[in-house]
Amino acid sequence: MPRTEFIATAFHVPERVVTNDDLAQIMDTSDEWITQRSGIKTRHWVSDGETGASLATAAARKALAKAGMRPAELDCIVYCTCTPDHFEPGNGVFLERELGLSDIPAIDVRNQCSGFIYGLSVADAWIRTGQYRRVLLVGAEVHSRGLDRTTRGRDTTVLFGDGAGVAILGPTDDPERGVLSTHLFADGRHAEKLWVDAPGLAHDPFISEQLIREGKHHAVMEGREVFKYASILMPQSVAAALEANHVTPGDVKLLVPHQANLRIIEMVQKAVGLRDDQVYTNIDRYGNTTAASIPIALDEALCEGRLARGDLLLLTAFGSGFTWASAAVRW
Ligand code: COA
Repeated sequence: MPRTEFIATAFHVPERVVTNDDLAQIMDTSDEWITQRSGIKTRHWVSDGETGASLATAAARKALAKAGMRPAELDCIVYCTCTPDHFEPGNGVFLERELGLSDIPAIDVRNQCSGFIYGLSVADAWIRTGQYRRVLLVGAEVHSRGLDRTTRGRDTTVLFGDGAGVAILGPTDDPERGVLSTHLFADGRHAEKLWVDAPGLAHDPFISEQLIREGKHHAVMEGREVFKYASILMPQSVAAALEANHVTPGDVKLLVPHQANLRIIEMVQKAVGLRDDQVYTNIDRYGNTTAASIPIALDEALCEGRLARGDLLLLTAFGSGFTWASAAVRW
C-alpha cells in the first residue's frame, strides 16, 4: 500500500487585521489581558463579501499553483469546518463549484479544532486504499460573524480568528515517507463545554428571537475546563503517535499543534519534553482558527524552512466535542 504525502500546502487569511486594542474598543477587555492569557496579539476577520468558501478557494488556488496542478486533477475534496457558510449543503460543494469542478466528491468533516487531523485520517485512508489519488484537504473557518462581539462574549470572542489552510495530498511509493499514523479520539460527555447551541433542530422552532436574545447562536465555553482537558489530552495524543511509531521526543523535528492558546501549547511542549525549536507557534498573529490553524501553521513552518525531507513531523489538536487527535508524518 502506498503512503500519503503532502504535495503542497497553502493558506489564505482575510486582509482585515483586528488587534487586541481594536477589540478593547467594542468590549471590556485589554491587550494586556488577552496577551497574558492567550499569547494572541492580532487575528484576521472577514469583510463584506468574504465567506469560508471564498477563503478556502483562495488557499486552494495557491496550493494548486505550488503543486503545478489544475483543479481538474483533483479526485476529491475533504472540507473541515465548524463554521459552514450555510446550514446545508456543506461547504465542500461550494468550494468545488468555485474551482470550476462538478464531477468529484466533496465531504464535510465537522470536528472543530481537531477537524484537520480527522480529515487527514479520512484522506489518508482513501489514498492508501487507492480510492482517490489526489485529495484536497481543507480547514477553513469564519468565526468572526458568529462571535458575541460584546462584553458578554469576551472570554471566547478574543480568542478566535478567520482563515483557511489547505493541503494537496497524494500517494508516494517511497516506503520511508508520508503519513505514518493518525490517532483520533472523542468524548461526548463534554459536548456542552465548548459549543454553539443554536440554530439547531433540537429546538422547535430551530431558531427563534428568544434563542438569539439568549445568545445561543454564539460559541460559549467553559474556558478553565477546556484548558484543563486540552493540557492533559493533547500530550496523551502525542504520546500515542510516538509510541505507535517507536520514536522518542528527541526524534521529532517539529510539532505543529493546534493553535488554541499559547499557554496550552507551552504545557503540551513541557509535558512531551520538547525544546522550543521543536514546536511551531503563530497564534500571536492569527488567534484560534480552529480547523484552519494546523494547515496555516504548517505552511508557515514550511515557508520558514523548518522541515526538510525525511524529518519527523507531529500534529496534535484538541477542541469542542471534546475531540482530540494526532498524526505522525515522515516529511
Ligand atoms: N478581557 C478581560 N477580562 C476577561 C476577559 C477578557 N477578554 N474574559 C474574561 N475576563 C475576566 C473574567 O470575567 C474573570 O473576571 P472575574 O474574576 O471578575 O470574574 C477573569 O477575567 C478571569 O476569568 P477566567 O475565566 O477565570 O480566566 P482564565 O484564567 O481561565 O482565562 C481563558 C480564560 C479563556 C483565556 C482560559 O480559560 C483558556 O485559555 N481556556 C482555553 C480556551 C481555549 O483554548 N479554547 C479553544 C480550545 S480549542
